[in-house]
Amino acid sequence: MTVTIVGSQLGDEGKGGVVDLFGDAADVVARYQGGDNAGHTVVHDGEKYKLSLVPSGAVRGKVGVLGNGCVVNPRTLFDEIETLQEKGLDPDVRVAERAHVILPFHRVLDGIEEDVKSEDDQEVGTTGRGIGPTYEDKAGRRGIRVGDLLDPDVLRDRLEYVVPQKRALVEDVYGADVSDLENPDAFDVDALFEEFREIGERLAEGNMTVNASAFLTDAMADGETVMFEGAQGTIIDIDHGNYPYVTSSNPTAGGAAVGTGLSPTVIADGEIVGIVKAYLTRVGSGPLPTELGGVVGDTPDYDEQGDGENEELATYIREEGGEYGTVTGRPRRVGWLDMPMLRHSARVNGFTGLAINHIDVLAGLEEVKVGHSYELDGEELLAMPPTTEEWGRCEANLKSFDGWDDVDWSAVADEGYEAIPENARTYLEYVADELEADVYAVGVGPGRGETVVVENPYE
Ligand code: GDP
Ligand code: IMO
Ligand code: MG
Repeated sequence: MTVTIVGSQLGDEGKGGVVDLFGDAADVVARYQGGDNAGHTVVHDGEKYKLSLVPSGAVRGKVGVLGNGCVVNPRTLFDEIETLQEKGLDPDVRVAERAHVILPFHRVLDGIEEDVKSEDDQEVGTTGRGIGPTYEDKAGRRGIRVGDLLDPDVLRDRLEYVVPQKRALVEDVYGADVSDLENPDAFDVDALFEEFREIGERLAEGNMTVNASAFLTDAMADGETVMFEGAQGTIIDIDHGNYPYVTSSNPTAGGAAVGTGLSPTVIADGEIVGIVKAYLTRVGSGPLPTELGGVVGDTPDYDEQGDGENEELATYIREEGGEYGTVTGRPRRVGWLDMPMLRHSARVNGFTGLAINHIDVLAGLEEVKVGHSYELDGEELLAMPPTTEEWGRCEANLKSFDGWDDVDWSAVADEGYEAIPENARTYLEYVADELEADVYAVGVGPGRGETVVVENPYE
């Protein structure tokens, strides 16, 4: 039986912490999409682990798999493994031979394209990790896969095909000179061949590459338990999110099947746990109907820091929740919980349970609001519309809840669900009812022990 952890909103819902919590029962934790654009935090015993590529199960010594749906920057992978080793862990990470490799030119192109888009205020606000350009090459059938690094002849052939195209893109389309770039070697076949051939050797020596589908199937046949760790979130899914302000993969539950090579029936036989932040945060651009205040550079048509009540609230929540990007350090945009977004998310993913995090962050507010529905062209919508233009025109109909006090949250976590302040329980139950899914866990702080576990999906 598997458990799939999926971000229900815009990323950073606290997936890493939930993987750490419920992953105790798993033997293998597999990522199925995304790359080092993710930033998953696990806090345990006063130590904070920030993971962007190594699956969060590493903190508990679980085998980590980067599935075929991932894009892998080997430099990040090895750096992260070393950082974890310095902290006394011994991560066992296997990488799918079918996963695509992020090459240095992908990062450069990510930056150039964002710069060009920003001239017309069209930038996505990517993490700059080369995610989009790598998935583009995958879809364009010119990508380089992890398995290709193991065969120097194949690697050279692939580089010789793709690198001149990228060079031409930079020079002929974007009008830049490769030799003026910070790292011109990113476009040099020989330099790339040397570096990535060595990476291939290192992966092979460490016995790190696998056929993810076969590896996971065999593990399950041997009685091992698998967890899938989604990165990003449903509303930045390339198909189901607010395109084009999305990432280039499928964080939604269906991605777990495609991105690992297991059957959808395997995923559906298990549990699909939606991770919900009790309010909303967003790094990057695009509409956000329940946004409070704004962040210059990310919030559309918001050129100057404003003031006022909503701004104050946004700043309060941002500071209380430490809402600054794990990967980029950027201040996150903040808003009230958006139910039309969550209803869409619940439909797309088929959540069997929910983990609702960060209710401690909202403690102390006199009232807590949610966007219950939208108003669009005189009509009430209960779920977000398919186009980003329509979404941008939606006005949220807010519903108000009485706030709850700040309490000793560790004690609450020890005592259980009934110890959660009553007004917060009313809020949680509203969300669960609307999404027709049970609450499995409630996050009341960042640490492993600061979670109220209502039901363990593995039990
Ligand atoms: P992820 O990308 O979904 O794994 O989430 P991030 O790690 O990027 O961001 C979540 C942040 O909130 C991290 O700093 C977590 O340690 C922290 N966090 C997770 N759950 C809770 C919670 O219930 N309360 C509080 N206060 N912080 C939490
Ligand atoms: P975790 O796994 C929040 C956002 C970026 C940008 C858009 C595209 O920590 O929840 P990309 O670099 O993927 O091409 O950027 O997606 N984004 C995230 N936002 N959490 C993440 O991951 C994100 N990964 C990407 O800010 O708007
Ligand atoms: Mg994150």
